[in-house]
Amino acid sequence: MKLIVGCIFFHVFLIIALLVSHQINGRNTNYVTNNYTSLFIFGDSFLDAGNNNYINTTSFDQANFLPYGETYFKFPTGRFSDGRLVSDFIAEYANMPLVPPFLQPGYNQYYKGVNFASGGAGALVETFQGSVIPFKTQARNFKKVTVWLRHKLGSSNSQKLLSNAVYMFSIGSNDYLSPFLTNSDVLNSYSHSQYVAMVVGNFTSIIKEIHKRGARKFAFLNLPPLGCLPGTRIIQSQGKGRCLEDLSSLASLHNQALYEVLIQLEKQLRGFNFSLYDFNSDLTQMINHPLKYGLKKGKSACCGSGPFRGKYSCGGKRGEKYFELCDKPNQYLFWDSYHLTESAYKQLATRMWSYTKNSHTIGPYTIRDFF
Ligand SMILES: *[C@@H]1O[C@H](CO)[C@@H](O)[C@H](O)[C@H]1NC(C)=O
Ligand SMILES: *[C@@H]1O[C@H](CO)[C@@H](O)[C@H](O)[C@H]1NC(C)=O
Ligand SMILES: *[C@@H]1O[C@H](CO)[C@@H](O)[C@H](O)[C@H]1NC(C)=O
Ligand SMILES: *[C@@H]1O[C@H](CO)[C@@H](O)[C@H](O)[C@H]1NC(C)=O
Repeated sequence: MKLIVGCIFFHVFLIIALLVSHQINGRNTNYVTNNYTSLFIFGDSFLDAGNNNYINTTSFDQANFLPYGETYFKFPTGRFSDGRLVSDFIAEYANMPLVPPFLQPGYNQYYKGVNFASGGAGALVETFQGSVIPFKTQARNFKKVTVWLRHKLGSSNSQKLLSNAVYMFSIGSNDYLSPFLTNSDVLNSYSHSQYVAMVVGNFTSIIKEIHKRGARKFAFLNLPPLGCLPGTRIIQSQGKGRCLEDLSSLASLHNQALYEVLIQLEKQLRGFNFSLYDFNSDLTQMINHPLKYGLKKGKSACCGSGPFRGKYSCGGKRGEKYFELCDKPNQYLFWDSYHLTESAYKQLATRMWSYTKNSHTIGPYTIRDFF
């Protein structure tokens, strides 16, 4: 009798176990059968949602202290802003939850996507080497995720998920900023066009790698006017606050090369579709005409110190305790010396998302077409 009851219990247990495991598998493949569009994010501090909280780096490449995050989250998440980033709004517009950082302990719902971006990262491994997760390593982390997905979903379903997913990129700014912010003389050893070719060359081979793993829908932000950020205005202008033209012209050269390379990739790579958002012209307009965008300040940061609050001291943890903080971040374009406020990111995301083609989207698709 005992044996029979034991047997029944064992069978009931087995059936429950099977049901549960079936449900888990069912839930996983649902992401494929429901055509869920996952979002994978790569790049630098414009898109980093907190990966740098988990690496051995310095406070210069981190934003995990107040007042970062104060407006929306009410606590610092590692995002370089007072609130959400462009990628957070894109996820929202696509009716998705926020996409967590790859290094966030315990996160493995990779079906929905994941964020690989790292503040300070560039396309060159030399850029802020040792303090950031370079683009190349981000692509390697993506490869790990594709292996995991294949293991969970099987080859055909994981391919389907990967080709239906959207891949968002902001990379390159730090490759040009770093020579100006460190004592590097790299720009004496290369001409500007050689240096741009090297950055774009590395960028291109990494994009090809990501495409080879199954990515098809690529969304890029080009580089902002790098010499007109509060932190770069103060480098050479003796307090006059003019844009650092050398740096802005490198960004323009890069943007031209980026566009040409994307057109080539579209011809070369099977199924490669891209959307290119003209961050540069959009931000230039906002810097020069803040009132038109409902902002009061287009040149000065909300958080920092010195002229234009361009000194990178926001939060008082980067070697300098003193910093100023504005009362109303939503009236500012710049949050700190290099990064924008949530209200600016929201406007940019809205125009990036915008269905009707506008002057700030270059190229065949808007990111909205991909969802
Ligand atoms: C998913 O896409 C396929 C192919 O385009 C389509 O046949 C199917 O109905 C879609 N499923 C859902 C749930 O939308
Ligand atoms: C972190 O980096 C510092 C400086 O590069 C080094 O001295 C330290 O050993 C590193 N710590 C870990 C845990 O890797
Ligand atoms: C990539 O960058 C390295 C320097 O980090 C450079 O030596 C190499 O030529 C670049 N590759 C391409 C394809 O441009
Ligand atoms: C992308 O490219 C493929 C084939 O090249 C095409 O079938 C598809 O409709 C394109 N558009 C989008 C928005 O993915």
